[in-house]
Amino acid sequence: MIKFFAKGINFLFGKNLQNKNVFVSGSLQYLERKRNIDKNYFDYIRLATLELVSHEINSKRLAGNVAELGVYKGKFARYINSYFPDRSLYLFDTFEGFDKRDVALEQKQNFSSGAQDFSDTSVESVLQSMPNREKCIPVKGFFPDSATNIQDSFVFVSLDADLFEPIYSGLQFFYPKLSKGGYIFIHDFNNDAYKGARKAVEQFCHEENISFVPLPDANGSAIISK
Ligand SMILES: C[S@@+](CC[C@H](N)C(=O)[O-])C[C@H]1O[C@@H](n2cnc3c(N)ncnc32)[C@H](O)[C@@H]1O
Repeated sequence: MIKFFAKGINFLFGKNLQNKNVFVSGSLQYLERKRNIDKNYFDYIRLATLELVSHEINSKRLAGNVAELGVYKGKFARYINSYFPDRSLYLFDTFEGFDKRDVALEQKQNFSSGAQDFSDTSVESVLQSMPNREKCIPVKGFFPDSATNIQDSFVFVSLDADLFEPIYSGLQFFYPKLSKGGYIFIHDFNNDAYKGARKAVEQFCHEENISFVPLPDANGSAIISK
C-alpha cells in the first residue's frame, strides 16, 4: 500500500520534489531484518547507512572502538553511541568552534569562509544527550594535537569537521588505526560550501592509493573502508 502511495507521489509531484532535491524512494524493501532508524533524524540516507555499517561490524564481531571528529552538539554522535553500545566512543572537538589556524588556511585556499559558529555547545551538554554516556570519552581541544596520546584501534569513525586541515589530519590519524573491515565516513565530500572536505579525501586517497564511495546523503558524504 505504502509503495503504491510512493509511486503515486512520484508520478504526481516527482519532478517538483526532485527540483528541490527531495526524493521519494523505497529502501531495502526486501530485507527481513528489522532496522532501528530514528524517523526524526533529518538525513535518512546518512543514518540508514550508519545502521547498515554497524550491522556489518557488530555481526562480524570486529574489534575496535568508534569515534567522531567534529561533534558539535552530538546529533550524529548519539546514533554512533546507540548503534555501538558496547564500544568506547571518542568525541573529538574543540567544543568552542573552528580554530583560527584551520580557518586561515581555508580562506587562503578558497575552500570555505570558515564563518559558521559552532561554539554554542559543551562537553557536559553533549554527554547528557548520549544514550550510553558511560562509554563516551570526550577529547576536548584542537585536533590533531588533542589526539597525540591516543593509541587505540577503531572500527568506525565519522569525520565531520568541515575544514580541510582537521579532515586531512583525521584521515592520517585514523586510517592506520582502522581495523580490517572498518569504515570512515567523511561528511561534506560533495558539499560545495566546504570544498576542503573533498580535497582532503582526494589528496589522502591518492597518497595512500585507496578508494572511496560517495553517498547521495544530504551533505554528500564519502566512505572509506579497509
Ligand atoms: C559541522 S560541526 C559537527 C556536526 C556534528 N557532527 C553533528 O552531527 O551535528 C563541525 C565541528 O567540528 C569541530 N572542529 C573543526 N575543526 C576542529 C579541530 N581542528 N579540532 C577539533 N574540533 C574541530 C567544530 O568545533 C564543530 O563543532
